[in-house]
Amino acid sequence: MWPYYPDLMERPVPRYTSYPPATAFCASVGTEAQARALNAVGPGTAVSLYLHIPYCQKICWYCGCNTGAAGRTQRLSAYLKALEGEIALVAKLLGGRGKLHRIAFGGGSPNAIDPVDFVRLVDRLVTIFGAGAAPDISVEIDPRAFTPDWAMTLAISQVSRVSFGVQSFDPAIQAAIGRIQPVTMIETCIAALRARGIKAINFDLMYGLPGQTVEVLDQTLDDVVRLKPSRIALFGYAHVPQMFPRQRRIDATALPGPSARFDQAAHGYERLIGEGYVAIGFDHFAQPDDPLAKAAATGRVRRNFQGFTEDQAEVMIGLGASAISLFPDLIIQNEKNPGAYRDRIAGGQLAGSRGVVRGPEDQARAQVIEQLLCQHSAAPDPSLVDPQLEAALAQFRALGLVEQKGDALWITEQGRPYARNIAAAFDRHAAH
Ligand SMILES: C[S@@+](CC[C@H](N)C(=O)[O-])C[C@H]1O[C@@H](n2cnc3c(N)ncnc32)[C@H](O)[C@@H]1O
Ligand code: SF4
Repeated sequence: MWPYYPDLMERPVPRYTSYPPATAFCASVGTEAQARALNAVGPGTAVSLYLHIPYCQKICWYCGCNTGAAGRTQRLSAYLKALEGEIALVAKLLGGRGKLHRIAFGGGSPNAIDPVDFVRLVDRLVTIFGAGAAPDISVEIDPRAFTPDWAMTLAISQVSRVSFGVQSFDPAIQAAIGRIQPVTMIETCIAALRARGIKAINFDLMYGLPGQTVEVLDQTLDDVVRLKPSRIALFGYAHVPQMFPRQRRIDATALPGPSARFDQAAHGYERLIGEGYVAIGFDHFAQPDDPLAKAAATGRVRRNFQGFTEDQAEVMIGLGASAISLFPDLIIQNEKNPGAYRDRIAGGQLAGSRGVVRGPEDQARAQVIEQLLCQHSAAPDPSLVDPQLEAALAQFRALGLVEQKGDALWITEQGRPYARNIAAAFDRHAAH
């Protein structure tokens, strides 16, 4: 069992889906830097695309994503028009360079748009960026808005992986978080996809929900293991109503405290490992034959804005409102507000609005942080080590959370829940 250190657990640390993290982005890094980075992409550089659809048919009370109610179809078609405009602008700057590797659709809920529009969008992306390649395509889907049409659409578009928001199968929790979806609904979705040959299915689950206990989580996990998703992400619910007013509908007094949250995360980890899943990083699990588990076995897991991934592309281009692009020397986020995003594109401008330039030291720190989170070990360059870092690592060593083996720093099994705290010791942008 993992040891519980409340002061470490309760310390706010970034999720490090990028380094420097989003808190270091600033408005002085914008479209000029974005255009320069796109111009610098080489002909053989592996490029992955992320498309953000910031709409859902129904908004869940707990949601911390950049999304809003789909509402009128006019709103969706105006957004899709802007997305097409952005695709054209980016493609012009790339000038046919870059090798399309993957396309990930996220949100929000990509199935808030019309299936016909989705097919058209995939077709356009593959034609413009693909040059005949057959990229891996993954899509996040809200099961409540899934229809048989969508199963056919995803199959026609050669989507290989679908991710469903499940959160919890407990009816009382579903009522408390404003997201009703009986287990039979998920069963129907999975059966429809499997019948169409789409076997790679992810579930998003959460712990730390109102009224949730280890026992209630365990009941959800009973159904999860029965349904055998290829991957599971088990996120801790982040309750920040001051940032996401929709979360005010959640009864904060019913939320489990930090030590109960810790027990739930620990239980989820032990149960899923016991069921044969391979633990990836600190909150993902994959079946042993899933490409993510295979990547873990060979030290090739990566971390980006979508979490832990086996995607090895050097460049990720984010398209759509709030989407983030990742270049070796630049991270840049598009304008978050869909209306302002549309205006930018309509004016013939790229949409990058905040970012951070990564110099050689940031890149070296980014590599150590990524390796610690993904591989649980890293061999930091001696130039990154200073007395402050030494002191932080000595503390983790004394607690048995890290070990030094030659040049390499290893996170122990006991240190796993503290991986982000350990990574934060290498973060020069964080307030220590
Ligand atoms: C884009 S949604 C997944 C796809 C689809 N929209 C759905 O909900 O079915 C992203 C995921 O982020 C997670 N999430 C959203 N709000 C969260 C929060 N406040 N704390 C932790 N995880 C959250 C949920 O697990 C959710 O499934
Ligand atoms: S959890 Fe998914 S479906 Fe619910 S509001 Fe957020 S993005 Fe939309």
